Amino acid sequence: MNDASLSRPNFHLKEEIRDYWSKRSETFDLAFGHRIPPGPEFHAWQQPIREQLGTAPLKVLELACGTGEVTRLTHELGHDVTAIDFPEAMLAVARHKHAGKDRLRFILADAEDTREPDGLYDAIVCRHLVWTLTAPEAAFREWHRLLKPGGKLLVFDGDWAKPTRLGRLSSFVIRQIDRLIGPDTHYDGALSSRHAEIMRQLPFGEGLTYDRLEPLLKQAGFAHTLRLSHGPIAAAQRRSTNLRNRLRTLVYRRFILCAVR
Ligand SMILES: C[S@@+](CC[C@H](N)C(=O)[O-])C[C@H]1O[C@@H](n2cnc3c(N)ncnc32)[C@H](O)[C@@H]1O
Repeated sequence: MNDASLSRPNFHLKEEIRDYWSKRSETFDLAFGHRIPPGPEFHAWQQPIREQLGTAPLKVLELACGTGEVTRLTHELGHDVTAIDFPEAMLAVARHKHAGKDRLRFILADAEDTREPDGLYDAIVCRHLVWTLTAPEAAFREWHRLLKPGGKLLVFDGDWAKPTRLGRLSSFVIRQIDRLIGPDTHYDGALSSRHAEIMRQLPFGEGLTYDRLEPLLKQAGFAHTLRLSHGPIAAAQRRSTNLRNRLRTLVYRRFILCAVR
């Protein structure tokens, strides 16, 4: 696969997305913001899950688990976790990381059409998936279908299309640091051409915000929604990293949304 495949009319966007993440699986954890190191950052990411899901064992579905970093947050709270992703290569990293653990299964499935039974789960968690959905409205109806009445959907995401004003300034400084010490080879984020080409074709390609997502979830049948702050996570990240990564935490606006079925 190369970029020329984008112009092949029979190569579906979803296949392109799967192929992209398959290729990123080996180095995904090396890019800042993906791996969740133990300590304050781990606790900051885990806090919204603890707050919304509690610690009494629940049946939780994690959509787009990637290399299994968020999986650890939920599993270590004592929940029974089913984690899905759709490139085998991503799942292989996650399976290896969590080998031998009870209450945890990984399955290869499409988050937009899981084929899981109705009302099986108490909660659904996903980080950095919603921006890359190809058919969000249908996906949200699917997630509503999978939850028990009163079940919760917890979304961690951000607007990766439009840097904030401070973010534009931070990006400028990051570019100067790149020029001085060389680029960070594992960080491609929104910067790689392939990523940008996929973004261009996505429903949320022009940006995903809490205000855009909330009404779509209500239309899909979710009753209440709640906004949680991503601030404590970014603050914890800034405490333990270099200047370039500290600046990266300022580039895009992120949010956490909890919706109740
Ligand atoms: C930015 S990564 C986030 C991974 C993980 N959630 C994390 O935060 O570390 C996006 C993930 O979404 C997965 N993904 C994208 N579309 C998907 C779909 N339709 N079904 C399942 N996984 C999907 C990709 O394979 C990739 O692992």
